[in-house]
Amino acid sequence: MLDIAVAKPALPKSGALVLMLEEGCAGATAELLVVADAATGGAVSRALKVAEFKGKKGQSATVLAPGAGLSRVVAVGLGKLADTTDHSLEEAGGRVTAALAKEPAAAVSTTGMSAGQAASVTMGAALRAYRFDRYRTKEKAEDKPKLGKITLLHDAIAKVKAAWEPLKAVAEGVFLARDLVSEPPNVLFPAEMARRCQELTKLGLKVEVLGPKEMLKLGFGALMGVAQGSVREPRMVVMTWNGATGRKKEKPLCFVGKGVTFDTGGISLKPAGGMEDMKFDMGGAGTVIGLMAALAGRKAKVDAIGLVGLVENMPDGNAQRPGDVVTSYSGQTIEVINTDAEGRLVLADVLWYAQQKFDPRFMVDLATLTGAMVITLGHEITGFFANDDDLAAKITAAGAKTGEQMWRMPLTESFDKQINSDIADMKNVGGRPGGAITAAAFIQRFVNGKPWAHLDIAGTAWATKDSATTPKGATAVAVRALDRMVADNYE
Ligand code: BES
Ligand code: MN
Ligand code: ZN
Repeated sequence: MLDIAVAKPALPKSGALVLMLEEGCAGATAELLVVADAATGGAVSRALKVAEFKGKKGQSATVLAPGAGLSRVVAVGLGKLADTTDHSLEEAGGRVTAALAKEPAAAVSTTGMSAGQAASVTMGAALRAYRFDRYRTKEKAEDKPKLGKITLLHDAIAKVKAAWEPLKAVAEGVFLARDLVSEPPNVLFPAEMARRCQELTKLGLKVEVLGPKEMLKLGFGALMGVAQGSVREPRMVVMTWNGATGRKKEKPLCFVGKGVTFDTGGISLKPAGGMEDMKFDMGGAGTVIGLMAALAGRKAKVDAIGLVGLVENMPDGNAQRPGDVVTSYSGQTIEVINTDAEGRLVLADVLWYAQQKFDPRFMVDLATLTGAMVITLGHEITGFFANDDDLAAKITAAGAKTGEQMWRMPLTESFDKQINSDIADMKNVGGRPGGAITAAAFIQRFVNGKPWAHLDIAGTAWATKDSATTPKGATAVAVRALDRMVADNYE
């Protein structure tokens, strides 16, 4: 995490200076531009002119060694401040970090912005600075990004610090989720993932872990059927945050995550090419864990429960077979046509448990569930399904505000029919057409009259290229959107 300090606006004596400038190079930060320009004999304004920098949204320009002891001056355009949004300011902040890879520290002028706007810039800068380099032992120091500290220049020091505090907790939740999803599958298996959840008790979360004995006793036949092909024992983790106070006491919000720490497909084995990507198949659980850390870290005034089903899907002498019939915790029987459609089997039991045990106000589940969703919406937008228009609208709105776009998909009865089985209550696949939808229809059979949404994050949990606020790799998608949905509607 970037170290963030706040100080009164002044020209730094050395190092890097970043100027967040409005269109036409106007606004309060432009005053510091004038000061920097005078101190460098006009070098800054000359360079910005050559670069045709005008402060437009998305523009940035770097002036190297302009004089006055400064190593670089970076100008970042915001467009008109009145037209900016939290997310456009985060993107501008992300560009700050991208421009500062070679600087250990920088002063960033956000004067003229509200404290909240300055905090959004900071959030973008922090999110972009994430890196997972635990297993790189030979990278040369000069090849590593150096940026460790940002000093925000702003008059309202206390206000900016206060606005950054909750955002910092959310960024930490994002980083936890990114770390979990980035870990290789030999390191992060169900028991290890549960252990990492247990570390969250330090944030005030209550963390309960169930093992195979407890889950067999409860009757988790669907989840345990997936787990039985692996030598790694499954776990279910229940993380409870009790932050609601007084009149806000209501039923808890439940978030449920698919945590397949590696998905080989099982006996319905996946092809070798690209199979390594399937370490990310616990991305739904990663997001739920990151979200719970964010809510606890910023002491959200809400009662929320995060549940994750953790299994490894392996082919083995004891693995389940295509054709097996399992009895889920709900009592409904499932014909397992394809052992690679395992995520829905895991979610079936965990969702039913969430309802039995916690009588939630609503449930949101997240899963890297189908390749079909990747084909449907690609890598930029998360497709989701819901049985409740109000919940769906809240998810869409929170996604738009955080830049984590969400698009509601249809879920009609015709899809449900496709998963009827001749031998059991249902089968676990409905054929290739509408594959993301039949998967959602399957999950819906384990929703017992509660408002529910299902986010299929198969296309968005991992990025193959950098974006403004997310370096390539694990994205922790929906941690920020769901945190925002909770903050805007339930606190
Ligand atoms: N984890 C995969 C989904 C997935 C596939 C995510 C490719 C990202 C990229 C899931 O468990 C799976 O294998 N789904 C199958 C379902 C099919 C057998 C009905 C799929 O999508 O191919
Ligand atoms: Mn699978
Ligand atoms: Zn899977």
